[in-house]
This record gives sequence, C-alpha cells and structure tokens, in this order.
Amino acid sequence: MIQESEYKKRRDLIAKKLVKNSLAVLFSNSYKNRSNDTDYPYRQDSNFYYLSGFKEDNSALVIFKSATNIKTILFVEKKERLKELWNGKRVGRKKAKKRFLFDEVYDYSEFESKLKELMLKIKTLYFDFKLDYSKVKVLKRYAKNLPTHKNIAPLVASMRLIKSDAEIKLIEKAISITQDAHHKVISLDKDGLYEYHLQSEMEYVFKNSGAYSDAYTSIVASGNSANTLHYISNDKILLEDSLILIDAGCEYEYYASDITRTIPVSGQFSDAQKELYEMVLDVQLKIIAMIKPDEKRTLLQEKAEILLTQGMIRLGILKGSYKKLLKKKKHKKYYPHGIGHWMGLDVHDMAPYKDENDKEIPLKKGMVLTIEPGIYISKNDKCVPKKFRGLGIRIEDDILVTKNGNKNLSSNIAKTVDEIEKLSFTISTSKNT
Ligand code: GLY
Ligand code: MN
Ligand code: MN
Repeated sequence: MIQESEYKKRRDLIAKKLVKNSLAVLFSNSYKNRSNDTDYPYRQDSNFYYLSGFKEDNSALVIFKSATNIKTILFVEKKERLKELWNGKRVGRKKAKKRFLFDEVYDYSEFESKLKELMLKIKTLYFDFKLDYSKVKVLKRYAKNLPTHKNIAPLVASMRLIKSDAEIKLIEKAISITQDAHHKVISLDKDGLYEYHLQSEMEYVFKNSGAYSDAYTSIVASGNSANTLHYISNDKILLEDSLILIDAGCEYEYYASDITRTIPVSGQFSDAQKELYEMVLDVQLKIIAMIKPDEKRTLLQEKAEILLTQGMIRLGILKGSYKKLLKKKKHKKYYPHGIGHWMGLDVHDMAPYKDENDKEIPLKKGMVLTIEPGIYISKNDKCVPKKFRGLGIRIEDDILVTKNGNKNLSSNIAKTVDEIEKLSFTISTSKNT
C-alpha cells in the first residue's frame, strides 16, 4: 500500500521543479479498443498514477504554479447512476477531495473551462509530449499564445528512478507471486503439454494471488523457439529433451516483476544443457555481485559481454582471442541484447539512463534493475558444436541497489541446476510411488 501522503509528497516535489508561472497537466489513460465494442482491460497511465494514486479513466491532474503559490487540482469523472450501473462505481468529486489530498477536486466536465481560466495566468505549459493527439488538441486550443511548452515526462521519470520503501514492498510482493508461478511450472509434470499450458498455469497463479495482470506478455519458449527473443505465440508442444525459457512476471498493484528461468522439460539437464546453463549462470552471478552505489550500468554491460565471450570461447562456440572477438562484436550473434533495465511501475521502467548533460547516471540506493544475460544458438548454426545447437538460455533476476551493495529480490526463485532439478523431481517422484 502506498499512502496518499506519499503521492502528495511526489506532487510537492515535482511542483518544486516546475518554473514559476506554469501549469503542468497529466491525463489518465483512455480505454483502448480491442475489437468492435470490446476494450482491453484498463490500465492507468504510470506517470499519472505515480503522482495521483488515482485509478480511474477520464481524469486529469493539474499543478498550477504562480510566482508565489502552488495549487494541485484533480479532475474526476462525475458519479452518474446509470453509467455506474453499467461500468461500476466511481469515486466521485466529494470522496476524492477527502481521500486524495489535492488542493481542489472538480468534475472532469469542468476541465476545459478551468484550463482556459488558468492558461491566462501562465507562461509555460508542461505536458507529456507522447500524449494522444486528441488530448494535445484540447491543450493547444487554450495554449495558443503560450511561448513555452515543456515535456513533463522527464521530470516524473527522474523521480521514478529511486524507489521508496513502499514501492519496494509492492515489487517484492509481485516477485513473490511470480516466484510461486515459476515454482509451480518447474514442478509440473510436463509430459505431453504445450507451451500455452505452462503460460496458463503461471497466469492462473498471478490472478489467483490478486495480481492485476501479467507485467508483459509471457514468453514460454521451448527448444529452438527460445532463439526468438520476443517469442509470444507459446503454441508448440514441449519436447522431452528440450529446455524451456520462461520469461514471465506479474504486475501487483501497478508494480512489475520480470523473471526468466530456463528449465528442462524432463526435469533434468543434459550434460550440454548444463554446461551452457552454468556458463550463463556464472556470468549472471558475477554481474549481480558488481552492483553497488556508484557503479555504472554500461560497465555491467561491458563486463557481461567480456564474460560471455570468454565463456563461449571456453565452450568452443566462438574461436579466437576474446579481445578481437569483442572488437568485431562477434558475441552479438549469440548475445544480442542488454544486460538489464530499470523496473518499477513499468517493466521497462520509464526512468532515465543519462542525466540532462547526457552523462550516464550511476547506480544509487533505491534503484531497481534486472540482470538478464543470455545465450541463443539457432538449431541451424553450423559454426557451433552440435550439442549446443537449438539451445536458448536466459536467466533474469530483479535487483535492488542498497546502501553498500545490492539485494537480489528474486533470490528465492530456484536457479541453480541442482535447485531446479530438485524442484522438478518432487512431482515426478511422487507420481512414481
Ligand atoms: N520481459 C522483458 C524483458 O526481460 O525485458
Ligand atoms: Mn527484463
Ligand atoms: Mn524478462
């Protein structure tokens, strides 16, 4: 739970960053059409939510900053009996005023007239430059004579970089549900199952544990499918001797988790699978161990590329000196992606990697990032020893930067070969007795 006072603190902080005689406007998300008259499940805009804690659509948040004064205003959808009959209860103006600690709350129907009035008093308008054009049009209608437009998104993004204790608790809760889901599929008897069976088992655990949704579309990629990085069709049968790369995490109270485990269908790694898996795992552990305040993400990336390249040479996947191979970017064929990303309200959290002078932002206490090295070898790759062809492995954990180092928030999810095999065997053994 995040207290209303925390949202208010965030608004106070962002108000301080605005220039005087300005107005900042953020809108709730709109429903997105799925097909004909059905919509996708609604998800609030992350920046709007970060500053308001308000979950409804058709709402807006306004911060007015004069030379001497700051005023925060929330616009909410009116309570209307007939609309509520179809679409559910609204908080409404009166309750919102009591609960959400804004200076003023109005019906959304008053938004344009208030906007018009406030625009006359300011010189700078802040809004999210990625806003839907329909909403930009409304703003521009009243902001015709304003000399300056500024993007509010980077200001919110820089605040989202450091997580509060309450935010970390929600991320931990999301991860603990995701842990149950991964453990459930690891321990499942997979004989005759398809990838989507594992996906449905995981997403059942998410929903059944009170998680709103998955934080991104689950990837359940068995065998060679794991070599398609964003594989989401999840429609293949699980073959006895293959690995399954599962990249799936729930969203709990708007906070993401992002976990990948790669597990054997049979419950037991073959020697070649184990060799490659333990190479990736060793790299992952070494990179996680580097995480501490003042360390740089690009250094983690560089180190991961060095270690993976050295590992691939050791296993006969690449040939030559690691320095030359790195220089020629030969490793990119098998490890083409980044070592990780910020995580929070969004799985790829909208927080900056560089400061306003284009300099890299070093790690700080309270940041949360993923560490996810991987190796992907196509079944048709004739340059690689046969035993490794068709293997795709990624191992991903969610890491909190602490005062003196880091805490792996997902360290309880089975990860070593031994842990995974032990968990797999619980069910196989009980089935046989
Ligand atoms: N699940 C998306 C990612 O790992 O970045
Ligand atoms: Mn990730
Ligand atoms: Mn992931």
